[in-house]
Parts: sequence; structure tokens; C-alpha cells
Amino acid sequence: MKFFVDTADVNEIKELKETGFLDGVTTNPSLIAKSGRDFKEVVKEICDMLPGLPVSAEVVATDYKGMVDEGKKLAKLASNVVIKLPLTLEGIKATKTFSNEGIKTNVTLCFSAAQAILVAKAGATYISPFVGRHDDIGFDGMELIADIRQIYDNYENFKTEILVASVRHPVHVIQAGKLGADVCTIPPSTIKQLVKHPLTDIGLQNFLKDWEKTGQKI
Ligand code: G3P
Repeated sequence: MKFFVDTADVNEIKELKETGFLDGVTTNPSLIAKSGRDFKEVVKEICDMLPGLPVSAEVVATDYKGMVDEGKKLAKLASNVVIKLPLTLEGIKATKTFSNEGIKTNVTLCFSAAQAILVAKAGATYISPFVGRHDDIGFDGMELIADIRQIYDNYENFKTEILVASVRHPVHVIQAGKLGADVCTIPPSTIKQLVKHPLTDIGLQNFLKDWEKTGQKI
């Protein structure tokens, strides 16, 4: 499973890049606004920090022509930019256009398996089903992932990668792994939670306490 980090905070990305398990970055208009940075500048900086790794940058136009125009501008920023498009009819049309031109796309704001079928038929590189926002209104977001995985696995020509988004906690990541999702995009704080377990900490402390008694050095 690939790990993308869901942020436009370059300091968070720098810190996680050093772990060696970062496979990409996703941003969205809200994350860009939160960064307080110029959109194209911060996307370019992130792309340069992670050469060869996919960095999703979202268009804000809602009409087909506007999406294509904006997407082309974003694609020019760096070779590893992935154009993020909303899952609307206009977004699906733009996805098809970019897919025909070999430009990578990430179709976002997916909330149903029916939508996901259209996205695969449009040839998207990634689809972003939002699990946390489903959970937030009392539905099981991971059921959507299971449905999409089952449908996509039935068709050889459905190449779109399932990019689990709106991840709220480590259990989402575990469930995504069990379901065979291709990617999880995870907030920086949640990524850091993945490594934590109190018994690991206690076990390490006890090992070191006992080792100290030996008076030895390695
Ligand atoms: O960036 C797409 C998605 O991960 C955002 O999720 O629900 O945390 O805003 P959310």
C-alpha cells in the first residue's frame, strides 16, 4: 500500500520525507488555504522536494473548459503533478481528456460506488473516496472502499488506483490495507500515530533498563 500525506505544509512533508516511506502528496483547496501560501508556488516547491513522486493539485473551475485550462497550467508546474478534479460530470469529461493526453488525474470527493464506476471508465489514475466524511454522518466509509475494490477487480480495463482519502485514524489505514486499497492519503498527525504503541515503549524501556545492569557497551 502506498502512503501519501494529505497536506500542503512543506515542513510536515520535509519531516516525513526523511522516514523514507512517503510515496506522494495530496493537496486540496482547503489545505492550500490553510498553508497561507501561493498555490502554484507551494505545489512547485512540494514537487521539487519529491521528484518522481505524485503530488495532487486540485483545479477550482467547475466547468469542463475551465478545468482543462487550469489543469494544463498545473501540469506545466512539474512532471510529477497529478491533476485533481471534482467528481462531477464536468470533472469526468476533463478526466477523460487528460487521460487521453497521458496526464495523470486524481478524481476527488467520491462518495458512492456508482460514481467510482464512471471514474474508472474515464481512465483516471486515482480515485479518492472520502471515508472519514462518511463516518462523520454515521455511515461506514470503509464499506465504500470494499464496494469499489470488488467492482474494480471484476474488470481488467479498470486501472484506476483506489486512493483512500479523508482518513481520520490508524484503523482506517488498517482497514484500507485489509481491503487491498492501492493508496492511503493520511494527515501528518495520523501518519505519526501509526508507529505508536504503549507496549512497544514499555518493552524498550525495560530492555534498556536490563541492559544497563550488564555494564556492557556494544
Ligand atoms: O484531501 C482530500 C481528503 O483527504 C480530505 O479529507 O475529510 O479530512 O477534509 P478531509
